[in-house]
Amino acid sequence: MVAHRPVMVTEVLEWLRPRAGGCYLDGTVGEGGHAEAILEASAPTGRLIGFDRDPHALAIARERLAGYGARCLLTHGDYREIDDRLPDLGIEAVDGILLDLGISSLQLDQPERGFSFRADGPLDMRFDPSQGMTAADLVARCSEEELERWLREYGEERWARRIARAIVRQREREPVLTTQQLVSVIERAVPPPARYGRIHPATRTFQALRIVVNRELDELGETLERLVARLAACGRLCVLTYHSLEDRIVKHRFRALAAAARGGAEPGLTVLTKRPLRPALDEVEANPRARSAKLRVIERGGGQG
Ligand SMILES: C[S@@+](CC[C@H](N)C(=O)[O-])C[C@H]1O[C@@H](n2cnc3c(N)ncnc32)[C@H](O)[C@@H]1O
Repeated sequence: MVAHRPVMVTEVLEWLRPRAGGCYLDGTVGEGGHAEAILEASAPTGRLIGFDRDPHALAIARERLAGYGARCLLTHGDYREIDDRLPDLGIEAVDGILLDLGISSLQLDQPERGFSFRADGPLDMRFDPSQGMTAADLVARCSEEELERWLREYGEERWARRIARAIVRQREREPVLTTQQLVSVIERAVPPPARYGRIHPATRTFQALRIVVNRELDELGETLERLVARLAACGRLCVLTYHSLEDRIVKHRFRALAAAARGGAEPGLTVLTKRPLRPALDEVEANPRARSAKLRVIERGGGQG
């Protein structure tokens, strides 16, 4: 069963402009919601290549998109490896690319994945459960200074020092292995007003750990550059972000790429969204997870013909 409602689908289709005969890349295919919309809009001959790091999400997307046959190719992998993967698939350039960054409802709603501070589960947080360290491993091994820096930089957590110190004290007594163990350490560490504020006191710590576990911001800027380099003439890259750290990277890299392309021999690049596009109010009402979404789009020029 599909758990994730794709965000800003109308806007993504409007800006990506899928058409019959086109070839599209969805770097974060998840459960395939956007992918399905792109395949529908590019019927009967548009093709879609989908990547995801999460084998479970990919299995759901495979089932959902099976009816599109050879028009849709799904592969387990990291969109950061695009330069290694696309040539293997016999593809040099694509007409449009979508990145829908971050976490899906499917991942958030499964307590055993350890992404949610609202349910108890192992402190895991890996998009790809077959690779890398879990959040529990990180929390067990990092220094207090490192932890504080992660919480400050990736969580923009005001109480980073207090929380980092409390986690280190706690792990001296017993290992922090579950989401609810971590939540109770955070709740005790922050001052009472932060405990009962507008957002759950564990929100920022969970965001920071998830970013570190999955190296979400590593190479994001460089990857955008590699993706843009794969756009065919008039191709567009659409990026949906859900927090300011990612959005800032996308905004600055798009601007820098467009500036660097100005006056060059290659067809230029134009940032089509001077300000990010936001979801309509009725979408946010129907799907609160859309509320922080921002969509930015860059286009490769048409060249000589
Ligand atoms: C917001 S969800 C995408 C939802 C999807 N657009 C849909 O309509 O169902 C983000 C997805 O990106 C995947 N992901 C995160 N980082 C990735 C990476 N570096 N490479 C490939 N997939 C990634 C996650 O596993 C997750 O399934």
